[in-house]
Amino acid sequence: MYVCLCQGVTDGQIREAIYEGCCSYRDVRENLGVGTQCGKCACLAKQVVRDTLGEL
Ligand code: FES
Repeated sequence: MYVCLCQGVTDGQIREAIYEGCCSYRDVRENLGVGTQCGKCACLAKQVVRDTLGEL
């Protein structure tokens, strides 16, 4: 599912970025651009990052 519509970023891409080494929301944002436009997705994107980090 899309988390960030502005940048077209899915939850799968966020998970992938974390598996590849991102270890915070900030890392993910810098890598994928998620949350860098309207910012509406930030809350959900942070949640996905938290959940994924919690599974590692
Ligand atoms: Fe992510 Fe707008 S939906 S910045």
